[in-house]
Amino acid sequence: MEVDLPAQAEVIREYDERFACNPQIWADSDHDAYVFELLECFARCQGRSLVGELLDVGCGSGHTLRYFAARSRGRLRLTGLDFSQEAVRLARSQCEDVEVLCTDFLSWEPARKFDFVISLGVFEHFPDPRPALRKVGALLKEQGAFCLEVPNCLWHGWSGRHEGFRRHTGGSGQLEWHLRRATWDQIIAEAGLYTLAAVQGPTPWTEFVWFLASSPWADTSQCVNLQRLCRRRRRRAWSRHVRHFINIQKHRLKMLFEQVLGRLGLLATTSL
Ligand SMILES: C[S@@+](CC[C@H](N)C(=O)[O-])C[C@H]1O[C@@H](n2cnc3c(N)ncnc32)[C@H](O)[C@@H]1O
Repeated sequence: MEVDLPAQAEVIREYDERFACNPQIWADSDHDAYVFELLECFARCQGRSLVGELLDVGCGSGHTLRYFAARSRGRLRLTGLDFSQEAVRLARSQCEDVEVLCTDFLSWEPARKFDFVISLGVFEHFPDPRPALRKVGALLKEQGAFCLEVPNCLWHGWSGRHEGFRRHTGGSGQLEWHLRRATWDQIIAEAGLYTLAAVQGPTPWTEFVWFLASSPWADTSQCVNLQRLCRRRRRRAWSRHVRHFINIQKHRLKMLFEQVLGRLGLLATTSL
């Protein structure tokens, strides 16, 4: 760890502030569409359809739940969960028929199990993701699947190739793990979850996506359609990659420039 961990109340306050300042933060309907299509495709690969109980862990403002409610037309019973009151207020206001719980995922004691659990950009924020992964394993029905997405923070987190738990110095300023895919694979295995399929998100910074389960119940060799779907989506998203890449380089240059000025003792003088 490269940071002193703040108390959870402080972390929640930071999230409340982010959502209060920008209710649209992290909302991305293209991305929601991609995750929905991935789940549909995964279910089809198993000869099933996308029906049943779905939980969104760390649902934020509820944009994914709202999208899923519209696309699934009642086939999914949706539940969202977040520990930020402000996020939950937003999610409840935009997803009327969806149950949204305001609680810490780790201390939540649910009374039922789920066919699908999704979590997008949340697990990298757990100081130790293993207990949270184990908890999802216990929440899944026998043939349930967990669609986990963590961003490739080493790609977009300005931290080069150096793994660690740190504060994102650009953008949202969250505390998060910056890890390679192989390290995530190891953490997932240590938590006792099985990888049914490993795919990529539509952009380099959303490229770490897995379908996980508490037992190896699915035959993933049938899931070639999943790989095709993600290749198609990535081709379509190339202009977003370029823009994001340019922004990252600009930010890196700015940081480098500030470091050089700092070393030369010029920063204080130039900022006067
Ligand atoms: C980067 S945001 C992602 C939000 C949403 N999944 C999205 O894609 O827009 C991370 C979310 O996880 C929530 N979160 C983080 N740790 C949590 C925990 N222990 N229990 C419940 N929610 C948590 C935060 O409040 C925040 O809404």
